[in-house]
Amino acid sequence: MMQKRPLRLGVNIDHVATIRNARGGAHPDPLRAAKLAAAAGADGITAHLREDRRHISDADIAALVREIALPLNLEMAATDTMLAIALHHRPHAACLVPERRRELTTEGGLDVAGARDRLAPFVAQLAQAQIRTSLFIDPNENQVRAARAIGAPVIELHTGAFCDATGATRARELDRLRRAAALAEELGLECHAGHGLSFETVGAVAAIPTLVELNIGHFLIGEAIFGGLDSAIKRMRAAMDQARSNAHGEKSA
Ligand code: PXP
Repeated sequence: MMQKRPLRLGVNIDHVATIRNARGGAHPDPLRAAKLAAAAGADGITAHLREDRRHISDADIAALVREIALPLNLEMAATDTMLAIALHHRPHAACLVPERRRELTTEGGLDVAGARDRLAPFVAQLAQAQIRTSLFIDPNENQVRAARAIGAPVIELHTGAFCDATGATRARELDRLRRAAALAEELGLECHAGHGLSFETVGAVAAIPTLVELNIGHFLIGEAIFGGLDSAIKRMRAAMDQARSNAHGEKSA
């Protein structure tokens, strides 16, 4: 029988900070959200320290490192300033993402294939500090192979195109994710996925058997407005587990 693998849920708390920053005060506090997420069953906390500090702040990162027992995944651009911050705080993991100032959110994956020489030293220095580094890439064979070539232990596949698509395009995007995740496994890379996932889209992605972590933020924080963060996280966790269980049942039947 095929071994069923656990699927971790990383809860991204950036948009708790977005709401806080809209008024410039201390409420709502991302640290409180992280503690609540931990109690609701999250396996990790993810936070993106952007160059323009539009949501998470340096003080948030310090507080998360100090007070959260769960692994912290720091999303960051590959710049010397961000590298220095990561080396100072030493989160459990770092996820290198592309960053453009005017984008609303992280719009596409890193071009690892086109920037191997620039990115490789970041992966090496983070690894030296025992920070597990992932590269956020589109589900594309060249990008997966390039991530392997520069020594990253982990990739995170961008699920945005899948989540935004409908009909036949959605099926094609899901297939791209499946093939990229299978290739990652073949190359010995740990494979994560995230961006834009919701109750509606998470099942198909969670069913991809070689994925080990999903990072989900915006939808959960939005949904928390209606039913609370605890309930949103528990429902997401249940949807992931159900999809993984169903997929496992199909394989082992
Ligand atoms: N993974 C990465 C690398 C991201 O940059 C983001 C967005 O910050 C997410 C996951 C979570 O995306 P969303 O907030 O749309 O769930």
